[in-house]
Amino acid sequence: MPQRPDYNRDSLNSAANTFANIPLVDLVAQYESIREELDEAIASVVQAGRFIGGHQVQAFADDFASFCQVAHCVPCANGTDALEIALSVLGIGKGDEVIVPAFTFVATLEAVVSVGATPVLCDIDPNRFTIDPQRVKNLITSKTKAILPVHLFGQMAAMDDLISLAKSSGLHLIEDAAQAHDATYKGKMAGSMGDISTYSFFPGKNLGAYGDAGAILTNNEAWHIKSLKLANHGRIAKYDHETIGRNSRMDTLQAAVLSVKLKHLTDWTKKRHALAIRYTILLSGIEGLVLPNTFEDGQSAWHLYVVRIKNGSRDDFRKYLQEHGIETGIHYPIALSKLKVTTEQLKIVTNCYEAELAAAEVVSLPLYPELTEQMQDYICHHIISFF
Ligand SMILES: Cc1ncc(COP(=O)(O)O)c(C=O)c1O
Repeated sequence: MPQRPDYNRDSLNSAANTFANIPLVDLVAQYESIREELDEAIASVVQAGRFIGGHQVQAFADDFASFCQVAHCVPCANGTDALEIALSVLGIGKGDEVIVPAFTFVATLEAVVSVGATPVLCDIDPNRFTIDPQRVKNLITSKTKAILPVHLFGQMAAMDDLISLAKSSGLHLIEDAAQAHDATYKGKMAGSMGDISTYSFFPGKNLGAYGDAGAILTNNEAWHIKSLKLANHGRIAKYDHETIGRNSRMDTLQAAVLSVKLKHLTDWTKKRHALAIRYTILLSGIEGLVLPNTFEDGQSAWHLYVVRIKNGSRDDFRKYLQEHGIETGIHYPIALSKLKVTTEQLKIVTNCYEAELAAAEVVSLPLYPELTEQMQDYICHHIISFF
């Protein structure tokens, strides 16, 4: 843990700067900070005239696998495809159940349904916002084939408990690491602990492409080959189609962009981490405002800094900040257990109290490496004024 810096909330009162607009995420500021490298990488793809495949895609696959301390990485078109391919690779389909957290982006559930399996929604541990291993245990049936934890907001799920539960129950463990680039758990990288794991490089992620992109990671050679085939029309060699696959290739341009950005990821995570700690110091002790926890067992990637607003004042809180030019987000306003797709289309009826309460209270504050301390002071000043 970094040392507690020598600033405190009193210094905020002298924060003279005002800002017309502070976005939740600023991808233009990120581009400006590495413009030359990105322009060069993009130009080299365009000038070579090769937009599918090529050495850039393999180079990114190798670099990202090694960054995540995993043997194999299969780049693909997006994080949702990555999940679907991972499930298919493990042979999960009709008649199988997969336990997923009730608080995540819908893609986690969607992928399970897309392969024909049944998602079983599990409530979260409200301290971590991630799937609660104790409750997972109670949901395992003879049909359960896998547990699919999501490292939400960059915070790692309680992996030790999930790994031992998966092992003792003979289940697969699939990590959805879409929000956890560079997060660690007991020194291990996100995506390195499951049988297979998936990433999204949606532009706003900590490692984001300039369009859609994703990846499947595994240490298992057979699953690696199967993922390669499923993501590319069922083939390894050109025109030698062995199975029904799909077109889920990562574009060459996206791979080139991601390789440039990957070199900066460690530095960006450090900046996110420092800003997150600073938020926590500047905003601690305010009644009605619950700050995100940190845990000894790992290091969050701080994809999002998510606070909880108690007493039903979330809308007023967001409106107040918006009036002062501060953009906030809600990730996510509806728990999976209450989404129409779950209740009306899938006809899954379940109560997930903690996930539903979180959905009613969470607010994401601006957090990105280019956010300055002056901007953060301004944000904190207005949060304190609101309360
Ligand atoms: C937790 C989680 N899983 C899966 C996905 C799906 O990724 P993509 O948008 O690249 O399909 C996302 C993307 O937002 C996500 O946050």
